[in-house]
Amino acid sequence: MWEQAWLNYSNKKIHDKHLKMLTTLYVDKVLLEDVKITNCVKELDRLLEANEGEQLKLTDDPSIAGIVLKTTLNTYLGLEGYHLRYDNGFIVEGHTTTGILYGVFRLIECLRLNQSIKQLDIESVPKNPLRMINHWDNMDGSIERGYSGNSFFFENNQIIINQRTVDYARLLASIGINSVVINNVNVKDKATYLITDEYLDDLNQLSTILYGYGVSLYISINYASPMEIGGLASADPFDEDVKTWWKEQSRYVFEGLTNFGGYLVKADSEGREGPFTYGRTQADGANMLAQAVAPYGGKIIWRCFVYNCQQDWRDLKTDRAKAGYEAFKPLDGEFLENVILQIKNGPMDFQVREPVSPLFGALKHTNQMLEVQAAQEYTGQQIHVCYLVPMWKEILDFQTYHYEAGRVKDIISGTSSKALKGGMAAVINTGNDDNWTGHDLAGANFYGFGKLAWDPDLSSKEIAEAFSLLTFGHEEAMKVVSKILLDSWEVYESYTTPLGLGWMVNVSHHYGPSPEGYEYDRWGTYHRADHTAIGVDRTSTGTNYTNQYHEINRKTYESMETCPESLLLFFHRIPYKHILSDQRTLIQYMYDAHFDGAKRVRTMKEDFIGIKGHIDDKIYYRVLERFDKQIDHSELWRDVINSYFYRKSGIPDEKHRQIF
Ligand code: GCU
Repeated sequence: MWEQAWLNYSNKKIHDKHLKMLTTLYVDKVLLEDVKITNCVKELDRLLEANEGEQLKLTDDPSIAGIVLKTTLNTYLGLEGYHLRYDNGFIVEGHTTTGILYGVFRLIECLRLNQSIKQLDIESVPKNPLRMINHWDNMDGSIERGYSGNSFFFENNQIIINQRTVDYARLLASIGINSVVINNVNVKDKATYLITDEYLDDLNQLSTILYGYGVSLYISINYASPMEIGGLASADPFDEDVKTWWKEQSRYVFEGLTNFGGYLVKADSEGREGPFTYGRTQADGANMLAQAVAPYGGKIIWRCFVYNCQQDWRDLKTDRAKAGYEAFKPLDGEFLENVILQIKNGPMDFQVREPVSPLFGALKHTNQMLEVQAAQEYTGQQIHVCYLVPMWKEILDFQTYHYEAGRVKDIISGTSSKALKGGMAAVINTGNDDNWTGHDLAGANFYGFGKLAWDPDLSSKEIAEAFSLLTFGHEEAMKVVSKILLDSWEVYESYTTPLGLGWMVNVSHHYGPSPEGYEYDRWGTYHRADHTAIGVDRTSTGTNYTNQYHEINRKTYESMETCPESLLLFFHRIPYKHILSDQRTLIQYMYDAHFDGAKRVRTMKEDFIGIKGHIDDKIYYRVLERFDKQIDHSELWRDVINSYFYRKSGIPDEKHRQIF
């Protein structure tokens, strides 16, 4: 049986006085029919039941109610914001019932976190219009880059709808997610048919459940659908039959599904069909679809993950990092209003550290959305603990200099330019494991993504603490777990590929060390190490990737002196004997980082052992098992990478530690 993650209401009782107040509810009569309000009532019921409180009663006298849900005519809260306050009772106001729903979840969270109620007065409006989850779930039930079991949406090419679907929608609403793409971006086989009558009834059941929690359903589509389903000879976006096919199919889908949001598209990427096949641009492809969904207010989320995945190693000018910008920057201004470009955080592919994609802000007339990966494909696959919120915050706070309000968070939220709107998407880390995310601590990435997408100014620490207290229900556990979480990215980075190196993973499954795996693979992504130096020169003397940034950033990255050390090997080719800012050589830094990193994993485990008895035993042992694996595996990383650098450079460790 699946668990409730941070919505486990029975792990920490709320104050009796508050519990009592929640039993008398007043709701404006007109709202009682609304499904979102019904869901608010159900949520309060769950809370009361888990806390062994009295049953909830509705009253028609607001003056005696302990909790009041009502709409306000004031539009300042927008379509999703809420005002939550205490005035002899809890008052949750929204301009819409969606706002009220978010407000109720926030109230429950405040009570469970034991926040001061007397001063409760929170007005909250989400910063990002779209706060989206991308599932890479396949219809056979498998999940691409899934590390938490199988899909809870699909099995044997059928759609699964049960109480878990509802619980998932609750988790989403509780952290402010408002859209979800349920299927993998690599759309093949049966998934192509999700937009046909074969699945429409089931999908409508699903979209109706999601709607009740403020979430719009989206589907990843196969660009070649007009051929594969429609029997047409091409999928050329300029072909009239193709246009008509998409229009008709889209009418069918939008009219058949409650609150359907639109399509997510991976085109011309890693073998997926796209407009390039027909000599058309990415904008031609996206706009054709945008026109088909526009009558229904639909959106096209078009991914920018377009690159040549078969770069020849002899070719020193082609640079995978440059590909996204090269494909999309020239098209700026050509995309229709309902197209949003979804850009991965870095120019490569979710490495433990990458610079921010130069597309952000360089696109001046195009809606932009940030794509991050909560699924830990390259960051330990939910066996290693790696809390990614600090990484995402660095990305959101990155100053592009392209606008006065030029940070990534300003650009995607529409603060920089009122005309542009996007948001954040996460490739999610869930599956049908009991705890949803395999590693219990990986739940922090799921929870944290939602919180950050709502408010990018929250700190990594407050998110980690709230997650830990809500999930594990104990103050001491909160302290220990949040500390582990906050250290974990740095620790993982140090025993794997520090200084912006990346890519030393095993080819294809991406777990574990393989220093030259990608070096000699057809799927070439190179670091070009030899016996003197490592790294790709991406400055003007090399691939000139730096030129894709605003002049201020270009200059910073261009020089070895000013380039942030954490990204040194991303931008520069560096001799092993190069002296870093703390006077260590590059090679010594590598050895030290790997020895220290692996050691710190042992410390994290010891700290965790200290909370035995404070948290549920089942969770305790589950996490402990992951730590044991992480210890073994971090030591493997340490040994393989150190040995690699030693043999390449011939330079021994100054501290004479064991290197194989
Ligand atoms: C990575 C990942 C693939 C995925 C792709 C994408 O390359 O390994 O599994 O399909 O990203 O984002 O489309």
